[in-house]
Amino acid sequence: MNTIRLGDIAPNFIAKTTEGKLDFHEWLGESWGMLVSHPADFTPVCTTELGTMANYKAEFEKRDVKVAAISVDPLTSHFEWIKDIEQTQNAQVNFPLIADDEREVATLYGMIHPNDDATMTVRSVFIIAPDKKVKLILTYPASTGRNFEELLRVMDSLQLTQYKSLATPANWKNGEDCVILPSVSNEKAEELFPKGFVEVKPYLRLTPQV
Ligand code: BEZ
Repeated sequence: MNTIRLGDIAPNFIAKTTEGKLDFHEWLGESWGMLVSHPADFTPVCTTELGTMANYKAEFEKRDVKVAAISVDPLTSHFEWIKDIEQTQNAQVNFPLIADDEREVATLYGMIHPNDDATMTVRSVFIIAPDKKVKLILTYPASTGRNFEELLRVMDSLQLTQYKSLATPANWKNGEDCVILPSVSNEKAEELFPKGFVEVKPYLRLTPQV
């Protein structure tokens, strides 16, 4: 199984999707990206997930994140299934659904865990930064639907780190105090965080979200 680790460049691929042929890196451009795999078309949890993802797309777009989904089903199946998603989930599927019937992308990204299931992809999430580096990898079992509020929360945290030198503490929610990155000196922190910061310990410094 191919293993991708945080910090690796997300492998590029060209694939068939419900929105036409897609060159992954070209499609990402300078944006952030989120690639999610689902076990199979016409399965109950996946149906709810993809409807939910469609309804969250605008929130991802606000954060400059492009979203795409993938399974090892063919395009004809995807198009049929989309009708069910739209009929049952009050959603318009508004992102590319990748048809990976040859399992090329699933293999490249290690999305098949043969000891769990030899044929279906697990529920993987890969978040990719504009420099194409992998910033987050999650793996859920087929029976657990993902929490898209959590995926947005992670995006907010990743972007605070990337652009504001901030980390986020346990159970952090948007708007709550953040943690100053250990690599930032106190002198630099005074410059970066004009609202000030509280030094709970020299290594634990909190500041309002910027
Ligand atoms: C689902 O997507 O609903 C599902 C797929 C495989 C096993 C369990 C649930």
